[in-house]
Amino acid sequence: MTSCRMRRLGEAALGLALLLGIFQSGCSVTFDVKDESGKSCILADLSIDFVVDYKIGDKQGISKFVLPEKAETAKTSSCGTKSGTVPLLVIGFGTNNTLGINFTKSDKDYRVDTLLFTYNLSDAVYFPNSTENGTRQEASSKAEISALTNRYYKCFNPHLITMGNVNMTFHNVKLEAYLNGNNYSTNATSCKEDVSPTSAPPIPPTTAPVKPKIPDVGNYSVDGTSGVCILAKMGLQLNITYKTQSDKNASYEFNIEPTQIKASGTCSKTYSTLLLSSEKVSLLFNFTLNLNESKFYLGEVAVNTTIVDAKDPKFSSSNGSLSFLKTTTRKSYKCNSKETLQVTDSFSIDFYNLQIQAFDIDNGKFGPAVECAADQNGMLVPIIVGAALAGLVLIVLIAYLIGRKRSHAGYQTI
Ligand SMILES: *[C@@H]1O[C@H](CO)[C@@H](O)[C@H](O)[C@H]1NC(C)=O
Ligand SMILES: *[C@@H]1O[C@H](CO)[C@@H](O)[C@H](O)[C@H]1NC(C)=O
Ligand SMILES: *[C@@H]1O[C@H](CO)[C@@H](O)[C@H](O)[C@H]1NC(C)=O
Ligand SMILES: *[C@@H]1O[C@H](CO)[C@@H](O)[C@H](O)[C@H]1NC(C)=O
Ligand SMILES: *[C@@H]1O[C@H](CO)[C@@H](O)[C@H](O)[C@H]1NC(C)=O
Ligand SMILES: *[C@@H]1O[C@H](CO)[C@@H](O)[C@H](O)[C@H]1NC(C)=O
Ligand SMILES: *[C@@H]1O[C@H](CO)[C@@H](O)[C@H](O)[C@H]1NC(C)=O
Repeated sequence: MTSCRMRRLGEAALGLALLLGIFQSGCSVTFDVKDESGKSCILADLSIDFVVDYKIGDKQGISKFVLPEKAETAKTSSCGTKSGTVPLLVIGFGTNNTLGINFTKSDKDYRVDTLLFTYNLSDAVYFPNSTENGTRQEASSKAEISALTNRYYKCFNPHLITMGNVNMTFHNVKLEAYLNGNNYSTNATSCKEDVSPTSAPPIPPTTAPVKPKIPDVGNYSVDGTSGVCILAKMGLQLNITYKTQSDKNASYEFNIEPTQIKASGTCSKTYSTLLLSSEKVSLLFNFTLNLNESKFYLGEVAVNTTIVDAKDPKFSSSNGSLSFLKTTTRKSYKCNSKETLQVTDSFSIDFYNLQIQAFDIDNGKFGPAVECAADQNGMLVPIIVGAALAGLVLIVLIAYLIGRKRSHAGYQTI
């Protein structure tokens, strides 16, 4: 849209230098959904920054683009006049990439119900060198875009919507559905990003991290030529600290989801490795056997993943001089308490409900368990309480017996 460039100049002329950062990443594109009689029912002016994870070879690729100026109101848009249908704005761009936005209303307000992003991985303009082709879909019903009836929705600051492999940041948004007249209403409902107490820089998505729950326990094993060489039962939570695009320190904590993991590995005489990989992450554990001491230990850990809002989205970190979980061979290391391994300054792993053994594993089953110190401390409290109770019972019993003896003696003297 030509109005776009003119508006950008206008804003710049106003001296809103601070805002230029936002404007650089794209300007608003206008959309208009009309019913059969030509009356508008949805009007939207918006900018969207997209970040999409996709595969390039066997690597994780990332595509960042802004909603192009040439994006159009697709023909599949509708005012939802037929019974049972709702107003729907479909934005189309490139070769068959569409973003569907549909609305619902109550008596006092209206809101975006779902966002459905359909993207074509064969579209080399947006997904260069994509390994996969064909279309993919991501949806969100948590857009958190709503306004009071007969007001337009206004959101100048970035508003992030995450959906699987896609992150969308809406900004410079003016939008209204269920239009009363043929144009925007006079009054607006501002989004929460615009009414924050200070007009300080918008809150980046990572400052409100959702702490992941305790990770699910996965069972992993690696087969060598002479049977199983690594056996592991564990829940894993990774914690990565990184620099965001705006140069802030942030931490990214996420769980290894056993159902999404493909486990593989190799065994040799003195090294054995377990590789846990999924679409999002690959995590390598390399165990070493110390033949002199007859002990095995975790000597190396390496991770590769993508962090969407990091300055450098490709994150990898490794440390080959670790000495963790040191255990006598043919025994297994066991720890129900959480144990943290600081791999590097920027990367740590929390192990939950861990039992692990490497190298000589008899019959593919864990050998006798060596319990970690934390578990033993955990056992100490019940032992002390138990001992105290037993002592108390004994004292009461003795007191009772003495008392009985005394009273017996008393009777005899009468
Ligand atoms: C996806 O893009 C490719 C290449 O531009 C095109 O040939 C194909 O028809 C598109 N797929 C769909 C479903 O439109
Ligand atoms: C898309 O992928 C399928 C299977 O992976 C392949 O058979 C087909 O040739 C591919 N199409 C294009 C246009 O690359
Ligand atoms: C709608 O209102 C805007 C100002 O908010 C104005 O620039 C535009 O011309 C109006 N459009 C119509 C169709 O009246
Ligand atoms: C992740 O690491 C950072 C930096 O070391 C720390 O501040 C944060 O508490 C850690 N998060 C968890 C859940 O342990
Ligand atoms: C961010 O972390 C680095 C170390 O990784 C530290 O030197 C720096 O002071 C931190 N910055 C802030 C703003 O906390
Ligand atoms: C495991 O560690 C040993 C010793 O550092 C190294 O030679 C070997 O290449 C490592 N294996 C993998 C898969 O990283
Ligand atoms: C690797 O781990 C060892 C042992 O915990 C630590 O002393 C060393 O600083 C780590 N190396 C890096 C690069 O973080």
